[in-house]
Amino acid sequence: MKHEKQKTREGFSSSIGVIAAVLGSAVGLGNIWKFPYVTGANGGAAFILIYLLCLALVGLPVMLSEHLIGRNTKANAVGAFKVLQPRKPWFLVGGAGVLSAFLIMAFYTSVAGWIYAYIFKAASGSLLSTNPQETSLVFKTLVSGVGEPLFWQVVVLLVTGTIIMAGVTKGIERVTKVLMPLLFVLLIVIDIRSLTLPGAAEGLSFLFKPDFSKITVSVVLAALGLAFFKLSVGMGAMITYGSYVGENENLPKMALKVALSDTLVSLMAGIAIFPAVFAFGFEPDAGPPLLFITIPTVFSSMPFGGVFMVLFFVLTAIAATGAMLSLLEVPVAYLTEQHHWSRRNATLLTILGIGLLGSTATLSNSILANITLFGKNFFDFYDFTTSNVLLPLGGIFIALFVGWQWGQSNVYQEISNNGQIANKGLARIFLILVRYVVPVGIILVLLAGLNINIIGFLLKLLGIV
Ligand code: PHE
Repeated sequence: MKHEKQKTREGFSSSIGVIAAVLGSAVGLGNIWKFPYVTGANGGAAFILIYLLCLALVGLPVMLSEHLIGRNTKANAVGAFKVLQPRKPWFLVGGAGVLSAFLIMAFYTSVAGWIYAYIFKAASGSLLSTNPQETSLVFKTLVSGVGEPLFWQVVVLLVTGTIIMAGVTKGIERVTKVLMPLLFVLLIVIDIRSLTLPGAAEGLSFLFKPDFSKITVSVVLAALGLAFFKLSVGMGAMITYGSYVGENENLPKMALKVALSDTLVSLMAGIAIFPAVFAFGFEPDAGPPLLFITIPTVFSSMPFGGVFMVLFFVLTAIAATGAMLSLLEVPVAYLTEQHHWSRRNATLLTILGIGLLGSTATLSNSILANITLFGKNFFDFYDFTTSNVLLPLGGIFIALFVGWQWGQSNVYQEISNNGQIANKGLARIFLILVRYVVPVGIILVLLAGLNINIIGFLLKLLGIV
């Protein structure tokens, strides 16, 4: 059943445009900044294996679920559930997604601001050093400031806001289509340099040789959270983008392509960073600063490094911007469609809200450093509660909705483009995943994260141990 809602609604204009935009949402600071530092902090290769498992069994099915819901309803994250279940509270899942968009943007714009700032620092030559102390100092000085990081955060919001105001086709699609391939090429260049550094082998074995003794509950939770964050799922961004996707796109194929390319970019970022970590004597578990302190040393050790360094930060800024467009689009689509705001006003209100909230994340390295929520500063609090709590919870409900509530035949119709693609077997596997594997898997990980070992508890209850 199709829902004839907004007939004049904008959408992506070509298959290439769809892939570029969806991949543009997935690829971002998650690959280049977060993936390396979370991998570094959680012990390397074993973490990556768990991450890939989470991606395949949980992230990918949730992504497909969101695309199906979005394309079927042609509506925003909240509206989509209202179209499908007008009298039930499922729309709250979309509401939580809108909230998540604000919380993610709060810290994301802060990091994106550092990246924007680094473009200029790289151009001025102040990052040209292979001395870890020097590159660390540049980073510390930036983030512990007040005016400078706030200024860049505002610039980020103005840039993304302007593109969003231009609309889906002329804004999002046009920008992402050109710049994604360029980022890829540049990553290849850095990888070659990184792999030829003395000591590269140690970095590679950290990345690819698993040590399973390093796996703990919090490592698994971090892997699950990263899978959600990476694929931009669990908060309705993929429902919103799915709503702009044409009727003839093969959705399962598209989700798979996006997940594979995204993973490739993450691994390439890992290959860019870890050999340098070991070659220049950094600690792999440096946390959020990792990218900012290691990448300058890689470039500084190669010919024309200064030029490449500028290019690298420009492209990372672009990747971050592509991801932020999808984050902004969630509240903007919600406000324009559910509350009939103009696109311009919806965007302005959204970036204003994010700016206010986001300043607390930015200042959590300086004047707000002593304020903590549940033992975390603002920045870490927004990051942790979204990736490790809100997105997985959203994922459970989206999967349950598609698995149990929407109706098997509706799911099949949408996944097969009304029977045009013969993919019954795939649909069956998908249903098993969203009905059982995704919800049960996430609940076990979340409970374990709260220190509740449910399997141990059951075994005890049954008198087995
Ligand atoms: N996937 C993006 C990244 O890795 C972040 C993101 C999360 C974007 C959630 C949209 C929604 O950078």
